[in-house]
Amino acid sequence: MSKKAPPSYETQSLRDFAEVVRGRRTINLFLQTPVPGELVREAIEAATWAPNHHVTEPWHFYLLGRESIERCLDLCFDIVAAKKGQDAGKFKRGKWSEKPGWVVVTCRRSEDELLQREDYAACAAAIQNLMLYLWKAGVGSKWTTGDITRDERFFDIIGIDASAEFVVGLLWYGYPKVTPEQKRKGLGDVLSELP
Ligand SMILES: Cc1cc2nc3c(=O)[nH]c(=O)nc-3n(C[C@H](O)[C@H](O)[C@H](O)COP(=O)(O)O)c2cc1C
Repeated sequence: MSKKAPPSYETQSLRDFAEVVRGRRTINLFLQTPVPGELVREAIEAATWAPNHHVTEPWHFYLLGRESIERCLDLCFDIVAAKKGQDAGKFKRGKWSEKPGWVVVTCRRSEDELLQREDYAACAAAIQNLMLYLWKAGVGSKWTTGDITRDERFFDIIGIDASAEFVVGLLWYGYPKVTPEQKRKGLGDVLSELP
């Protein structure tokens, strides 16, 4: 049997990959340039290659069109206005109307606690796939779990069956207007190596 040398890890393609992983940032401010629908569908398809225990494929992706986005914006106004008044509602609606693309990711519900945890973890991994795929194409995104993602009126707009699935995230995407800085702890703070 011939022994093959392990592949080199000092490659440009690995450095490029690391740059995508480290460089991805949560984007709050987007340009209004439309993102091709085909790219987003490709990113969603790539998302489904996330690891998932028992290959349960627990996710579902809802890609919103203009009409459903407008209904979400009205709901955003209603939620914020009810809590903080009309002016705050209008302000937030205005901010959200600048989010070019909307995808909602849900996870199927499970009676089994362990399976539910694993399915949720898989959905989070799928979202990371999606965000990284978009980032590599120059498209930024933001994962939010704000109040709207737990609101029954939101489920009605999207067509979510709340008895069978729950929202893992609402993702906004678009070409970044501003890319913020971020920091992370060093490896020494997060890694324990055992003998
Ligand atoms: C499960 C989850 C929920 C999040 N929800 C929100 C949110 O509701 N609002 C928000 O501003 N950011 C939200 N974020 C984005 C984080 O704030 C962001 O990832 C963090 O600030 C680190 O920035 P980075 O993504 O650029 O590394 C969420 C991220 C995750 C993973």
